[in-house]
Amino acid sequence: MKARDRLRIAMQKSGRLTEPALDLLNRCGLSFRQSRDKLFCFGEGEPVDLLLVRDDDIPGLIAQGVCDLGIVGRNVLGEFQLTAGREAEPLAELRPLGFGRCRLSIAVPQELDYHEPQQLEGRRIATSYPGLLGEWLRTHGVNAGVVTLTGSVEIAPKLGTADAICDLVQSGGTLVANQLREADVLLESEAVLAGPLTLPVDERGDMLELLLKRLDGVIQVRE
Ligand code: PRP
Ligand code: ZN
Ligand code: MG
Repeated sequence: MKARDRLRIAMQKSGRLTEPALDLLNRCGLSFRQSRDKLFCFGEGEPVDLLLVRDDDIPGLIAQGVCDLGIVGRNVLGEFQLTAGREAEPLAELRPLGFGRCRLSIAVPQELDYHEPQQLEGRRIATSYPGLLGEWLRTHGVNAGVVTLTGSVEIAPKLGTADAICDLVQSGGTLVANQLREADVLLESEAVLAGPLTLPVDERGDMLELLLKRLDGVIQVRE
């Protein structure tokens, strides 16, 4: 691969993290000019560019070295760590960013009286996070069927394809709309800055270090 001298950050193209992520980078003194295809943003002041992609692709792009950093939910990063396989470059959560807070939770039909994970024994659970759910089930010694769906997970119990779900909950509105209720929390999530375990020792590494310093300043002011 051709060596890059500019730092490249992957972030969600359109979604809940897009606006706050751009806002945070602006506060760090970065500004960007969007390309015509809207997938690439060229950094105007500093040598830092953006790649606008699907959030689920972000950890893989960093692991492959296509991007140096990513702004992504802890849930997406955690799922990648658990499912990417041993060959994949391990990634680090460099900084929690304090926005996009949500929970990865088990939700059950409203009428089900849930007390403990063991009640899920032998049930089918629909999720987009088979890695994180599988780990949680193992931790609690529960054998359950995991039905992997890429979206609209909340509809599965109504369709009869699952007895419970494991999905992100923010306001809880989607659960209520589907007659489900939050029963157990697997992971407290928020947007994080993801990157390699060891920083590159070159200009990109220096820029990355500078960016982390600015980030820390911005985050401190906000707290
Ligand atoms: C997320 C998540 C839930 C919903 C939770 O989906 O998968 O469905 O938001 O938010 P709430 O508690 O505020 O209702 P999103 O709309 O981001 O789309 P996706 O599932 O297609 O990724
Ligand atoms: Zn997604
Ligand atoms: Mg959803």
